[in-house]
Amino acid sequence: MTKTALVLQVNGSDLTVALGTTVAAALALSGLTATRTSVNGEPRSAVCGMGICQECRVHVDGRVRLGCQTLCAPGMVVESMP
Ligand code: FES
Repeated sequence: MTKTALVLQVNGSDLTVALGTTVAAALALSGLTATRTSVNGEPRSAVCGMGICQECRVHVDGRVRLGCQTLCAPGMVVESMP
């Protein structure tokens, strides 16, 4: 049987997504409207979806990654940045 979904953790909660889902898409599916907070305290989230704007930065397994350029993996831990 071929797996078509995986489970990762987003801000402490399990989330099931289809294989091939990006972290940015997973965050949107989880209902998060912000991936991080700007230096002015404003919520920021994915804009371009192609690795240019850098607005989708999130912590993935403890490292800062671009959510739109990172595919979800089983057991991955994603945390939006304060
Ligand atoms: S959404 Fe622009 S770099 Fe990810």
